[in-house]
Amino acid sequence: MILMKFKIVKDYQELSRVAAEMMADIVKEKPKALLGLATGSSPVGLYKELIRMNQANEVDFSQVTTVNLDEYLGLPENHEQSYRRFMNENLFDHINVDKNKTYVPNGNPENLDTVGQEYDDLIQSLGQIDIQLLGIGHNGHIAFNEPADELVVGTHVTGLTEDTIDANARFFEKREDVPTQAVTMGLGSIMGAKKIILVASGSGKAEVIKALQDDLITTQIPATLLKLHPDVTIIVDEEAGKYLNK
Ligand code: GLP
Repeated sequence: MILMKFKIVKDYQELSRVAAEMMADIVKEKPKALLGLATGSSPVGLYKELIRMNQANEVDFSQVTTVNLDEYLGLPENHEQSYRRFMNENLFDHINVDKNKTYVPNGNPENLDTVGQEYDDLIQSLGQIDIQLLGIGHNGHIAFNEPADELVVGTHVTGLTEDTIDANARFFEKREDVPTQAVTMGLGSIMGAKKIILVASGSGKAEVIKALQDDLITTQIPATLLKLHPDVTIIVDEEAGKYLNK
């Protein structure tokens, strides 16, 4: 029994357009929507498309609130690679969103024991996430929920796997510069969203995307847990979708 919907599109450009339209449709329907946003290279094209739509007056973000999935631990907020800065540069600085209503987990918390609960309380106070955007790591991680025997429900501080540090090293000068820890939403807030869209492109993601199509879930591929959610759309380009049964 597969609840997930798969959309295979031609290339990254089409993927970005289709995913942006799905997000914009939510905002058109509900101007005060709560949007769950993601970082990584996969959503960059989609954000460009949302910027274009906003500047062409096709969609208005003035009343939305946004919550991001995760943030590196210990990077100054304005560090080139902090997810706050990523969001400002790739989206918030170019659309008519109220920046005071854009939330990213605190990567420099005074208290590591309470940072997760504080973010969960915040999300709870904002209401249900109307649409949660996700990328996927090639090891199946979503946000920074890495493969493990057990996964955490709430927002928490977590270590990054060597795999993920390797994958993210391309954004830093040296591999040693990649933070080894992050604050991430857990599976609870992600699964609590009304609607989820996951975007993936390129052949590097093809294996893990294939694992989303069978009938099994495993904490060793955290994205497989999404099979339990009633409204998930996986949007992939032809390369990332090459092993899917059409
Ligand atoms: C990062 C992020 C994830 C993202 C993933 C894939 O580690 N924490 O939210 O989905 O990597 O990134 P990319 O889209 O660059 O392949």
